[in-house]
Amino acid sequence: MPPSEIVSVALEGDIAWVTINNPPVNATSAAVRAGLESAISKVQGARVAVLKCAGKTFVAGGDMSEFDAAPVEPHLPDVVQQLEDSATPFIALMHGTVLGGGFELAMGCAWRIASAGTRFGLPEVNVGIIPGAGGTQRLPRLIGIQKSVDLACRGQMISADELIDLGGLDVVASGDLEEAAKAFIQSLPDRPKKISETSVEVLSAVEFDTLRSDLKKRAKGQTSPLQNLEALQWAALPFSEGQTKERALHLKMRVGVESKALRHAFFAEREVQKPKAIDGAVARDIRHAAIVGGGLMGAGIATAMLGAGLQVTIIERDTAAAAAANARVAGLLEGGLKRGKISQSKFAQQLGQLTCASGYDAASTADLAIEAVFEDIEVKRAVFAELSAIMPQDAILATNTSYIDPEQIFAATHNQSRCVGLHFFSPAHVMKLLEIVRLPSTAPDVLATAVSLGKRMRKVPVLSGICDGFIGNRMLATYRRAADYLLADGALPYEIDAAMRGFGMPMGPYELQDLTGLQISWANRKRLAPMRDPNERYIPVADQLCEMDRFGQRSGKGWYKYEVGNRAPFRDAEVESLILEHSKSEGISRREYTPAQITKRILAVMANEGARIVDEGIAEAESHIDMVQIHGYGFPRWRGGPMHYASEIGWTETHRNMEKVARESPGSWSLAKRLEDELR
Ligand code: NAI
Repeated sequence: MPPSEIVSVALEGDIAWVTINNPPVNATSAAVRAGLESAISKVQGARVAVLKCAGKTFVAGGDMSEFDAAPVEPHLPDVVQQLEDSATPFIALMHGTVLGGGFELAMGCAWRIASAGTRFGLPEVNVGIIPGAGGTQRLPRLIGIQKSVDLACRGQMISADELIDLGGLDVVASGDLEEAAKAFIQSLPDRPKKISETSVEVLSAVEFDTLRSDLKKRAKGQTSPLQNLEALQWAALPFSEGQTKERALHLKMRVGVESKALRHAFFAEREVQKPKAIDGAVARDIRHAAIVGGGLMGAGIATAMLGAGLQVTIIERDTAAAAAANARVAGLLEGGLKRGKISQSKFAQQLGQLTCASGYDAASTADLAIEAVFEDIEVKRAVFAELSAIMPQDAILATNTSYIDPEQIFAATHNQSRCVGLHFFSPAHVMKLLEIVRLPSTAPDVLATAVSLGKRMRKVPVLSGICDGFIGNRMLATYRRAADYLLADGALPYEIDAAMRGFGMPMGPYELQDLTGLQISWANRKRLAPMRDPNERYIPVADQLCEMDRFGQRSGKGWYKYEVGNRAPFRDAEVESLILEHSKSEGISRREYTPAQITKRILAVMANEGARIVDEGIAEAESHIDMVQIHGYGFPRWRGGPMHYASEIGWTETHRNMEKVARESPGSWSLAKRLEDELR
């Protein structure tokens, strides 16, 4: 598209209409910036100019594909300044989401009009940067420092109603936007002072310190929230000084590792929704889902599906269990209502779409069924026998199993092209990750339907092949094994937990086991014992804890001990002496590990396992492993995931670290081809 079409100017009497047309979100690409610059000169002489956008939204951000290259002129801060300085004053006429550069452009205009429902934000913090076109300098001047902190440091968005209350808008239009602009122009108020020429009170030193430490605690190592706070404080300086500092920091941050990692996550989230396996396949329209088993997982899955607008039928063992399932889902929906996640009318509507029954008849009209009964192959097989008998021959059948091989579950099911695993994470209505487990027989349109359903539920759907634990739990088992070897060789649980928290994990591996309970992994280890390579190191401490009824927080003790009513873990000499005894019995002379030595080993193991999963064709791409880790296991998004992290420190370095880990535990690790390839 030529620049004159990307930004067009139309004169109507003494009003100039400037329209940006850069689909899909009218990002402030170099062409848009150049177009705007030329439009600003063209409108001179008109009484007023209106800046608006074609399509579904006003400018919703910058063009992230430009971040890695040198900035191209004209720069956005200069364009915003030209808008502000233009002799013909501008009105920003906004709809959709006004984000980042879009909001900065709007703040260069003399007046701002938005349609009701428009949302505003400075989400740069989410991609590891600060705004670069005066956002942190004009926003506090426009709406005050407190709200600016929520937007710039926490990435929150605000509504048009809230923004007008804060003085950031002149009109919220409920009807036609252009008509609203014309009405406003008819009695055009005096041109207000330029935002850059106003002043603002920023935070006092005490307020700043309190906010800084609060943000720091939440950021878990991410720096961009703190840098946004610092930039907001510069609004106390003369505008040009603050703006220069903002621009310099913006340019530095956008080529930094944090921004690279966050952008990787942003793009991976989109890429993962288009796996090669569904190329050309058309998703089916799913309106009604049956869920068998309305326990912890079933109730969460039902809540997620109701939220996506589906009709849901839960089938339980008897009427009492069906009533309990109904109450469970109603409780989860109520929670959403209380937290303001859904409105009263949505709550009533969603609850109205739910039926809980004890017979399979209720599933006969469903397009898809998900089984979430006990983790027992015979129980699951019996469920699918019932479902196949009552549902159409092509209705999709899915299992939420965590560990059982879906091929075994569906072995006796007719038409296995419709069978798939839909592995949700607990709590299923909250956790973003959805592993779509593909059987060799699963048809592409069934996978496409699963991906589309995942998107409708606002999940991050990741395709996985079949292996023990699929992608996520296999990685988790490996992570824990690496940590256990460190325990045996010299580290203690609290040291490993602290090191992983220091890296950015919300919790270390031992605190997490205590939180979720040690039973499931104990049962798994017993199940896998006959298959375990006898040469592989095995650290029996977790088993010993289970034998001592130390199952974690719920039993008051696990890897740590707990006081009643207090979730804080305390070191326990009993556990530590078990660890020391194990080392002694193996003839290990324990050594000390620094946090960096701990994380280096664990991250090498994670990258190696992720690469093996890709080598085996279980995951389509390394970025898919990162999505599983970020959205299912709390891996810090600002690190980009274990695979991105490995590429950031370099695969050669990762290979070297992994070789060291393998040497320390002979017979226990196989190197991925991806790592071996680094040597060639
Ligand atoms: P749960 O014990 O809370 O719920 C199971 C429900 O299934 C119960 O309400 C039970 O009454 C019902 N049920 C059992 N047999 C039935 C039958 N024949 N017909 C109808 N209903 C029946 O278990 P949970 O935790 O919800 O797990 C369910 C499945 O989800 C398991 O396969 C588990 O491995 C898997 N899963 C569990 C996760 C977790 O964090 N708990 C995470 C991901 C998957």
